[in-house]
Amino acid sequence: MSETKGRMLKVSILRYDPNIKDDKPRMETYEIEEAPGMTLFIALNDIRQHQDNSLKFDFVCRAGICGSCSMLVNGKPTLACRALTSKMDPEISLAPLPVFELIGDLSINTGKWMSGMNERLETWIHKEEGKAEHSIDRLEEKMDPDLSDEIYELDRCVECGCCVAGCGTIVMRENFVGAVGMNKIARYSLDPRDERTDDDYYDLVGDEDGVFGCMSLLGCEDSCPKDLPLQSKIAYLRRKMVSLKDK
Ligand code: SF4
Ligand code: SF4
Ligand code: FES
Repeated sequence: MSETKGRMLKVSILRYDPNIKDDKPRMETYEIEEAPGMTLFIALNDIRQHQDNSLKFDFVCRAGICGSCSMLVNGKPTLACRALTSKMDPEISLAPLPVFELIGDLSINTGKWMSGMNERLETWIHKEEGKAEHSIDRLEEKMDPDLSDEIYELDRCVECGCCVAGCGTIVMRENFVGAVGMNKIARYSLDPRDERTDDDYYDLVGDEDGVFGCMSLLGCEDSCPKDLPLQSKIAYLRRKMVSLKDK
């Protein structure tokens, strides 16, 4: 009995390694047979294993959790490990996410951008001096379950950078914190353990690199693979910041 053959996929990849002298950006196309349940992670590994072992791309968890496999798939920021080829036309184009430092081919340094943003926005719980000691004997503070669910919802961000790559403002403002940054401030402002005031948050995102630079076109929410409520969180933060600005 003959086996049913899968579709032949043509995967065109933008190849360029800034660390290789005289390397030039170019599209290279690879043909592979689609297998049942194939994701782009599987397809790229197949290409690297059987056709071109110099191809660079990043994956860690293969489950949409680490955020390291983000790339442009047919022009849209996407987590490649969650992208089923069966949902795509057989001609697929892949390119690295813009904005982030290019390591080579599809591999980008989102970590550098994210750690810069996290440091600038101080995305950690702030306690008054003297209250921040950690002790294993101390009981965890109780939190209202609905509030903790609300915070958890925003904490699902995997720092993949898709919202940053899908944002028009970032092209004009290098230091724009993006939806990912505003989502984090929304998250900390909800958290009763963070003792920063609204004025403190205003100092962090109450300018053109924060809420007042956002054009509300919502490319970020459309691009977020974790379906975070970025639209409502940006609107919430903007309302809060506008009320402080008018004071
Ligand atoms: S709404 Fe538009 S400008 Fe604002 S963060 Fe999202 S993509 Fe960027
Ligand atoms: S908000 Fe969504 S798109 Fe942006 S970094 Fe977090 S998970 Fe990725
Ligand atoms: S490999 Fe971790 S999110 Fe895709």
